[in-house]
Amino acid sequence: MSSQGMVGQLQARRAAGVIVQMIKESKIAGRAILIAGPPSTGKTAIAMGILPFLLTLGSDVPFTMLAASEIYSLEMSKTEALMQSFRKSIGVRIKEETEIIEGEVVEIQIDKSLTGTTKQGKLTIKTTDMETLYDLGQKMIDALNREKVVAGDIISIDKASGKISKLGRSFARARDYDAMSADTKFVQCPEGELQKRREQTHTVSLHEIDVINSRTQGFLALFSGDTGEIKSEVRSQIDTKIGEWKEEGKADIIPGVLFIDEVHMLDIECFSFINRALEGELAPIIIMASNRGITKIRGTHYKSPHGLPIDLLDRLLIISTSTYSPDEIREILKIRSQEEDVTLTSETVETLTKIGQETSLRYAIHLITIANLIALKRSSQTVELRDVNRAYTLFIDQRRSVKYLQDVAENYITGKEWEENSTRPMQVS
Ligand SMILES: Nc1ncnc2c1ncn2[C@@H]1O[C@H](COP(=O)(O)OP(=O)(O)OP(=O)(O)O)[C@@H](O)[C@H]1O
Ligand SMILES: [Mg+2]
Repeated sequence: MSSQGMVGQLQARRAAGVIVQMIKESKIAGRAILIAGPPSTGKTAIAMGILPFLLTLGSDVPFTMLAASEIYSLEMSKTEALMQSFRKSIGVRIKEETEIIEGEVVEIQIDKSLTGTTKQGKLTIKTTDMETLYDLGQKMIDALNREKVVAGDIISIDKASGKISKLGRSFARARDYDAMSADTKFVQCPEGELQKRREQTHTVSLHEIDVINSRTQGFLALFSGDTGEIKSEVRSQIDTKIGEWKEEGKADIIPGVLFIDEVHMLDIECFSFINRALEGELAPIIIMASNRGITKIRGTHYKSPHGLPIDLLDRLLIISTSTYSPDEIREILKIRSQEEDVTLTSETVETLTKIGQETSLRYAIHLITIANLIALKRSSQTVELRDVNRAYTLFIDQRRSVKYLQDVAENYITGKEWEENSTRPMQVS
């Protein structure tokens, strides 16, 4: 994976690069990857970095992102929410053959009836090899008028829908200055037959097909996102149908990418759902991220690495991110300040790097923004050391916050006020 403003973390980025490659060759459907590492080491950044690669492929590989905690707030069961995310991440490329008529307009002749209400007409259209006369009905005449088609235009007519598109003007008419606007495009008069077959492809996700076919929801739910639960019968019918289309060569399945951030927030039911789904026939590539060490699996009393059950871990390829060296932190802070249009003195950069090492990269990044606001307040375009110092005292980092709490613990409500041995019972006056 190339840099994209990312610094260091070479190992992890190389691994991500391999994954992009595998996605391109659609080799790892049904695989799952875990990006594991301490907080703010760029896990989310690396996973999101895959997206532009998919886009530059010009491809239609779907990419879905889900923050694990989202599934608890939706108005559907956890597993349904996961299922929908899975199916959003699987694309179906549908091939369609359409018949078109493509050629240069020789003449359009429109006859109005005496009352002017009904129209009839004739269209002469040619290629370099042939010329044909078509009768025009009201609808086609309107369509031609709408597209402002005149003799000398190269047009294409979709036979099924009657849709007309103007491809440009014929080279032969290049000297017809009247009929031209500044952006006129010239094209060659087509060769061969007037009628042609053309293959078109559309890609939709399985989820979109589900919603459109689920009678209770209707396709408008796609826009509101209010899809509710979709019956499993609907899904299995769709899977069968798509299986048939695949056999007949009418459709291709494109496994996409599902990114589940903060995956330790899922619980044991979700994990077993994922386990099973990974083994299914239609599965996307799942990328998860977690910053947990050995911790309890949600919904159980067991502890496990990254908060994931061992049987799921066993199916995962694990990429790990590590903490940054001072040089890398400096580099990241420099890039960050450039992005935010903040000018830092070199002294400030050093201090921020130090803060980044001792507290966290995130905190140092936050300080850039705050220090900049403080500098702007005293009408300075450059952020100096005193601005950072001020920001550092105004906003404390996590470690200082913990220390502060330990020092003044008895002033806070802890919920233990009524316990017998509580050091200082709550005073009721
Ligand atoms: N290698 C890097 N190069 C440039 N910027 C980085 C790099 N790593 C992290 N950052 C920046 O640091 C911040 C934190 O990174 P990110 O959100 O990806 O961390 P994370 O590993 O997902 O952390 P968490 O576990 O807390 O979710 C982001 O603003 C990101 O842009
Ligand atoms: Mg993250």
